[in-house]
Amino acid sequence: NRLIIAVDGPSGSGKSSVCRAVATQFGADYLDTGAMYRAATWYCLDQQVDLDDEDAVAVAVEELPLNISTDPEHQIICVDQTDVTEAIREPRISEAVSEVATNRKARQLLINAQRRIIDESGFIVAEGRDITTVVAPDAQVRVLLTASAEARLRRRGLQLEAASGAAETQEALRRQVLERDKKDSKASNFTEAADGVAVLDSSDLTFEETVNSLITRIDD
Ligand code: CDP
Repeated sequence: NRLIIAVDGPSGSGKSSVCRAVATQFGADYLDTGAMYRAATWYCLDQQVDLDDEDAVAVAVEELPLNISTDPEHQIICVDQTDVTEAIREPRISEAVSEVATNRKARQLLINAQRRIIDESGFIVAEGRDITTVVAPDAQVRVLLTASAEARLRRRGLQLEAASGAAETQEALRRQVLERDKKDSKASNFTEAADGVAVLDSSDLTFEETVNSLITRIDD
């Protein structure tokens, strides 16, 4: 019997780290669908595909030689023979990814790929923006992980600082996070929970508390 834990949420809600921790604790597989959109974007830029050319982007995504591990402790993403695990987190990808994510054909191709990965697993924690609603609406546990804009900005700030070693200005960060939310909301509505989806607001929770709150829902 397959067990699927579906978690959606906006940028900075903490869903990646929370889902990885939960998957690790349960010995489950883990799927970061955002990483797939990022890898698709990396490939389009690498192939010099014009992101405004909808058909060209769809063709590139169709032939995308993507290899994504489902091990929550060793997330490795390769495009062809290139390890893009780190490159897909670069700001140039974050800035362009919504363009690929709002391409209908590209989106459908990636959704199909996500469903295949989920089908192949017996037990998986899958996270993104439309997992609870589109990719795996039949999941046994469906959670929308939210956080106030303030909390999300704070987390993103800490994350970027840790990654780059240099503090970005608050204002630039704020613009980036809110801009991407706005662009993403055109592709899927992840700010409101659909029927049957539980809202977990992490604004005032520590990381551990958020992980435990999600675990409680799985144990039930
Ligand atoms: O960096 P952050 O956690 O905000 O985003 P991510 O989970 O890495 O996802 C990157 C981008 O992929 C998002 O900004 C969306 O444009 C897109 N995405 C999507 O459209 N649908 C999903 N299920 C997951 C990600």
